[in-house]
Amino acid sequence: MDSYHITGGEKLAGDHRLKGAKNGVLPILAATVLTGEPCEICSCPSLSDVHTMVEILRSLGCSVTWDEDNIRVDAKTVDQWEIPERLMKGMRSSVFLMGPLLARCGQVAMTQPGGCAIGDRPIDIHLSGLRMLGAEIEEDPHRIVCRARRLTGATIRMEFPSVGATENLMMAAAAACGETHIIHPAREPEIEDLQNFLNACGAQVAGAGTGEIVICGVGDRRAAGPGSGTAPLSGCVHRVIPDRIEAGTYLAAAAITGGEIRLLDSAPSQMAQTLARLKEAGCRVKVDKTSIWLTAPRRLRSVREIKTLPYPGFPTDMQSQFLSLLTLAEGESKITETIFENRFKHVDGLLRMGADVAVDGRTAHITGVAGLHGARVQAEDLRGGAALVLAGLAAEGETVVENICHIDRGYDKLEVVLNDLGAKIERI
Ligand code: EPZ
Repeated sequence: MDSYHITGGEKLAGDHRLKGAKNGVLPILAATVLTGEPCEICSCPSLSDVHTMVEILRSLGCSVTWDEDNIRVDAKTVDQWEIPERLMKGMRSSVFLMGPLLARCGQVAMTQPGGCAIGDRPIDIHLSGLRMLGAEIEEDPHRIVCRARRLTGATIRMEFPSVGATENLMMAAAAACGETHIIHPAREPEIEDLQNFLNACGAQVAGAGTGEIVICGVGDRRAAGPGSGTAPLSGCVHRVIPDRIEAGTYLAAAAITGGEIRLLDSAPSQMAQTLARLKEAGCRVKVDKTSIWLTAPRRLRSVREIKTLPYPGFPTDMQSQFLSLLTLAEGESKITETIFENRFKHVDGLLRMGADVAVDGRTAHITGVAGLHGARVQAEDLRGGAALVLAGLAAEGETVVENICHIDRGYDKLEVVLNDLGAKIERI
């Protein structure tokens, strides 16, 4: 397993141009299964999760070519409806292939996605929504099989605004017969991006980002229903929205090292909570439509309380990175993780680097320290691993972050970007 060797103490300075959002490109690639003509997805980051999704699409019969930042998918023939176990295990978010495959082939089979480092991550909300659209679902502890001769629009009230479930249900409903109302859906910007992609391919989806998404299924207009293999949607060219979590991570890197950064091709309007908290911690932040400038203070200030919430609340995917920041801020801070039940795994590593953090259930109490020292630490999940790298950039001396395959899932050449910004980090 690769590791990062970091010599801390360098202030970051410079520009970084963002790529497309990991959590935007993954559902959109899954949605190409609904299309019968070529799709061109632009501004795709080269991440291991994206490579896995491309492999899954190929295993289903799609032809996929990836040149530079653009992925071209031709899903004219989708002749498989089983997700290969080894690929499913590699990336649990293949779950949102359920909706599209059910709509395209009338059936889908996959191994139970199972939990991961940050929590159990059940898929009950996905399955109950698909049942309401007409799917029959058989489950055993190992496998899930869904079948639907016909998908029919329904009103689905979500008990929790699950991002993946919202995306799955939008994609299945887009191909159903009749109208679907999804009440209390997730409102993340990636949901709106998926809506725009689906509509560009001939679907009729409205309301993403609000409390109700209305989908007029094209099922009635389709020659043959699911299972006929005919694709319900056409193709399109679509540019993925910028990655707001990659953006937040690099802003935090500049903030924790007392440096400065300019982000290009960003969408500051989708980052209100992250930017507000960085200002609260003492950073100077300036934005225009697509750029963000941040200058760090000499010493970061503590933030009394942060709670992760569904969008537009503070994003859970920025919690770990912010916790690292606050270990060096003057005073007491508190972070409560309300979305996942086990997302403080990076705290062990921070404690070994001299941080003062006490975790009590879903809340971490942080007392700022004057400095951290380097240590050997392990990445256990994507954002927790990134948080340990941030701490290493600021720590005195050498830090080794092991198991960085977790980090490769969500950051495209992190060490190259950080070295270009003045850090001393090497991949071994
Ligand atoms: C998406 O995961 C993101 N992944 C996650 O990003 C992100 O943390 C999460 O949304 C929340 O914003 C992708 O988009 C590929 P959820 P997802 O369904 O869809 C519970 C990263 O670091 N839940 O909104 O799996 C679940 O257990 C990753 O980039 C159910 O109980 O998130 C969790 O506690 C990590 N039943 C909470 O909801 C369900 O059927 C949020 O899950 C579904 C979810």
